[in-house]
Amino acid sequence: MITASSPYQLLPELPAWEFDALKESIRRHGVLLPVVKDELGTTIDGHHRERACRELGLVNYPIMTLAGLSKAEKRDHALLLNLVRRKLTRKQLREIIAAEIRRTPELSNNWLGGILGVSKNTVAAVRTQLEEAGEVVKLTSFKGRDGKQHPVAKIITHRATHADRARLALAALGKDAPRKTLELRLAERRVRKKERLSRVVQDYERPQGDETARLFHCRFQELEQVAAIEPGSVDLVLTDVPYDLDFVQQAAELGKFAARVLKLGGVLSTYTGVINMPGMLEELSRHLTYRAVAFSSWSGEGPVLHQLQCVTQATPILIFSNGPWVRTTRWYNDFHNTTGEQEWHPWQKQLADVEHWLTAFSDEGDLVCDPLGGGFTTALASARLGRRFVGCDCEERNVAAGQQRLREFA
Ligand SMILES: C[S@@+](CC[C@H](N)C(=O)[O-])C[C@H]1O[C@@H](n2cnc3c(N)ncnc32)[C@H](O)[C@@H]1O
Repeated sequence: MITASSPYQLLPELPAWEFDALKESIRRHGVLLPVVKDELGTTIDGHHRERACRELGLVNYPIMTLAGLSKAEKRDHALLLNLVRRKLTRKQLREIIAAEIRRTPELSNNWLGGILGVSKNTVAAVRTQLEEAGEVVKLTSFKGRDGKQHPVAKIITHRATHADRARLALAALGKDAPRKTLELRLAERRVRKKERLSRVVQDYERPQGDETARLFHCRFQELEQVAAIEPGSVDLVLTDVPYDLDFVQQAAELGKFAARVLKLGGVLSTYTGVINMPGMLEELSRHLTYRAVAFSSWSGEGPVLHQLQCVTQATPILIFSNGPWVRTTRWYNDFHNTTGEQEWHPWQKQLADVEHWLTAFSDEGDLVCDPLGGGFTTALASARLGRRFVGCDCEERNVAAGQQRLREFA
């Protein structure tokens, strides 16, 4: 008998002795093969494992949550997974093949054979019987496989509460879920980012007056004109350049810009890439005085510099002054990060990190500029620490998101 208690429980119930053996194995060793569910929590594969867990009172067992499969793909998945594992009698197998031919007669024998894990000749033999019995019409053309494997988004969890979170995260991500195996925390971070970005409903608004934080949509090469920044009016340029080698071409312009807008003794502090650092140093030193290198560090894995097989655990920060060093505040040249915020921009810096450098190189009431705003962490840190801010980004949605971020803080 073929049961239908779930749309994907397509095979006969296990005989009692086989189910008891499975249950005993789970009692002794736990669930070794994850139960497979979709993003709605419907079980695709592993009904017997689930039933055994229920009867044993086990709530935490491995679950693989899949997202992005059509109903037909879920059925195919369930069938193939079950058929290759289960020892069916010849009669049971033919019954399942017949059920699938009746359901989708237009699929070629080859395709159905692939789904069911049997040869196309076996499917053809069952089809002939059904045609002869008048149960399906004889077709002259069939739909073949498209040959494509559709990758799906997957999260594997080991606790019931985590499986619920995986389901919610995948449902919330919908089409935006990357088609690969994801870590639960990474998926949840993507959901938060999606939610935040979807809250950016308003367009970028050009600042009108002398607000304490002014964010502009323009290239930094135009910022002085667009924002009417007086020469020698800025206390600190605190920024974070793109880390690719191409950006070095803009470094001389950044140095010139900073030399014009900074007060005498004002500081430029920029996070930089390990690879583009020599170019950044060379270009910025043409216009400003190099003072020190500092580090923003973290524990654990970081981006890998493949040519060097180097796992990075720190980002260098180059510190320059416009003329003499006049600051008397003592500062530490390493900030160790323990968080991983990325809700507003893919290259977003940690707020505590930015606040560390802001405190080191500026005072309350000072004017701070970030000409490469990204997620505008510098603007938020300035607002929190009582500095005035002016900055820009060449991408309008970054500026709109930055304005939203400041509105949420206010
Ligand atoms: C590394 S990200 C900054 C990330 C930022 N520190 C944060 O915490 O979110 C650099 C930003 O510079 C912007 N950018 C690149 N070239 C630019 C230019 N010429 N003028 C203005 N913005 C530029 C990019 O759009 C990107 O958002």
